[in-house]
Amino acid sequence: MKLTYYGHSCFSIELGSKKMLFDPFISGNELAKGIDIDKIEADYIFVSHGHSDHVGDLVEIAKRTGAIVIGAFEVIGWAQKNGVTDVHPMNFGTYNFEFGKLKFLPASHSSSLPDGSYGGNPGGFLFITDNGNFYYSGDTCLMMDMKLIPRYAKLDFAIMPVGGNFTMDADDAVIAAEFIDCKKIVGVHFDTFGYIRIDHEATKEKFRTAGRELILPQIGETISL
Ligand code: NI
Ligand code: MN
Repeated sequence: MKLTYYGHSCFSIELGSKKMLFDPFISGNELAKGIDIDKIEADYIFVSHGHSDHVGDLVEIAKRTGAIVIGAFEVIGWAQKNGVTDVHPMNFGTYNFEFGKLKFLPASHSSSLPDGSYGGNPGGFLFITDNGNFYYSGDTCLMMDMKLIPRYAKLDFAIMPVGGNFTMDADDAVIAAEFIDCKKIVGVHFDTFGYIRIDHEATKEKFRTAGRELILPQIGETISL
């Protein structure tokens, strides 16, 4: 699988012939100035929760691409109110899509939309597909629910926050990697704001010491996983 990083918690994954975009927040991110949001392609857009640093460019990209937007029922309702028509609302549960099985799982965080309306529960996504298995936790602290994931799937890789303050920091993300039984982690939700600036080398070293790999992609970089 190929992953392209667009900064903060926004990335896209090529899964088979499909392009999956996650948590589109680019134009509001000073660090992602080099990314042209009009060039981003998407067949599906996954939204972990309603905070503006995850939905900032959602409406615009969804309308332009016609991608199917998948997320919590309340977040999808907000997108529809803003003119997005291709949607698939979920709550915590499982659905079989054409790309494979998707589980929308709890995250321990909060969720409200940019207009202040209720965002439902924040979540993460587990993909179980013929092209591989991966987990994106969304914004969350470390939680015991992550221990369920190895019962569902053997992960090829996972995407998790490492910036601390609003989410897990590196120390907790190392424990989360153990809970989900995953050797290869892509770190997100770091450096964008003052509260979440990290020392890249020291953060990677924490994972190495634990026998795991942390990848911190450059913004605009595409990596093979
Ligand atoms: Ni958040
Ligand atoms: Mn966030």
